Amino acid sequence: MKALEGVRILDMTHVQSGPTCTQLLAWFGADVLKVERPGVGDATRGQLRDIPDVDSLYFTMLNHNKRSITLNTKSDKGKEIFEGLLKACDVMVENFAPGALDRMGFSWERIQEINPRLIYASIKGFGPGPYEDCKVYENVAQCTGGSASTTGFVDGPPLVTGAQIGDSGTGLHLALGIVTALYHREKSGKGQRVHAAMQDGVLNLCRVKLRDQQRLQHGPLTEYSQHGQGIAFGEATPRAGNDSGGGQPGWILKCKGWENDPDAYVYFITQAAVWGNVCDVIGKPEWKEDPEYATPPARLDKIKQIFDTIEEWTMTKNKFEVMEICNPLNIPCGPILSMKEIAEEPSLRETGTVVEVDHPARGKYLSVGNPVKLSDSPSDVTRSPLLGEHTDEILMEILGFSSDEIAEAKTEGAVGDEMAQSKVAAE
Ligand code: COA
Repeated sequence: MKALEGVRILDMTHVQSGPTCTQLLAWFGADVLKVERPGVGDATRGQLRDIPDVDSLYFTMLNHNKRSITLNTKSDKGKEIFEGLLKACDVMVENFAPGALDRMGFSWERIQEINPRLIYASIKGFGPGPYEDCKVYENVAQCTGGSASTTGFVDGPPLVTGAQIGDSGTGLHLALGIVTALYHREKSGKGQRVHAAMQDGVLNLCRVKLRDQQRLQHGPLTEYSQHGQGIAFGEATPRAGNDSGGGQPGWILKCKGWENDPDAYVYFITQAAVWGNVCDVIGKPEWKEDPEYATPPARLDKIKQIFDTIEEWTMTKNKFEVMEICNPLNIPCGPILSMKEIAEEPSLRETGTVVEVDHPARGKYLSVGNPVKLSDSPSDVTRSPLLGEHTDEILMEILGFSSDEIAEAKTEGAVGDEMAQSKVAAE
């Protein structure tokens, strides 16, 4: 039995942040009913398409293990169906622009009347305050949550990161909030409102940078390599380049082949406990006893020069050779893996972290499977639904509709008829 089997989720999410959350819950076994606009669907179905008229990888990779129903929640009949689904579900998740659900007529107060046990979970760009009404996408959250101002090199502009910490990061936070509210409902019998703001989610992931902001009031941040280079600190936590961010200095170093391969680099950490091993490996055994190098405080003002010397050694090896030599000596390091290398890595396929999925329209493609593994509830990744693929099934199974009632709802435009239409088009 899957961990969340028996939990039914009304999934009003779109784009990336919300779908990440509900996909995770679906992997854990929840029955996720994705509600989409008739004939249109989640905008990402059509965004960044690599194959004409086929659901994009953007959509398929964020909506596995779900069922799709198309429903016009702004029509009278659509609202009635939506109410029925709210009664039949444990959780409703949405990430519309602020106020959209209220405009549809479904405020939190109204939802509590319809189903007091329902958990109503939302992602918005901001919490209450000056920006609460703003629409927000990933990079806005990275910028307002403290990530961009602390990412990049000290002498360069702020940078956004490739990791989708605003969207997928907040989706993860929301999933935890939902499971927590479900656990609480076991005791209270009541649902509750769960809210995750993207700015807050990013800041939570940047908490060490707020730590450094406060440390700055008591003196320079000595572990930042700018300190060793004599660059003064300003009033705010600076960008730290590839500094490790912890107490153990680290940096990204070139490896053999870097001239032609943009990913021929390794992350190298000079952990204090294995400093002697580092000195031996790079051919500087004299640094072990030299008071200028022997202790972490003595090395602080020479971090750049030390990494330049280590790099002279790493440039004689490829990134995997560096890993093979350093790992047995407990020197923490990691090759910079390209997406191509990750896609082809057999160990990630074996653990189900990278999975191959078959889709009726696109054929086989790769996706990221569930990164969280439960010993008794393994996750099978099943393909994303076609638009409206389960409309009839959901109306019959969950709301007890007859074929005539379904036909009537379709005629009224309350629900879509995409599957029949695509069959006609195919013929
Ligand atoms: N039936 C009828 N109407 C529907 C519907 C359905 N099944 N599903 C959605 N709609 C309507 C909504 O009610 C809304 O109508 P309204 O503006 O008249 O109230 C409209 O479709 C569009 O919703 P909206 O959320 O405003 O979409 P958008 O494309 O303009 O904005 C975002 C997209 C992501 C910027 C915005 O949703 C947002 O800021 N979300 C919160 C933060 C977030 O999650 N951002 C990250 C996304 S990865």
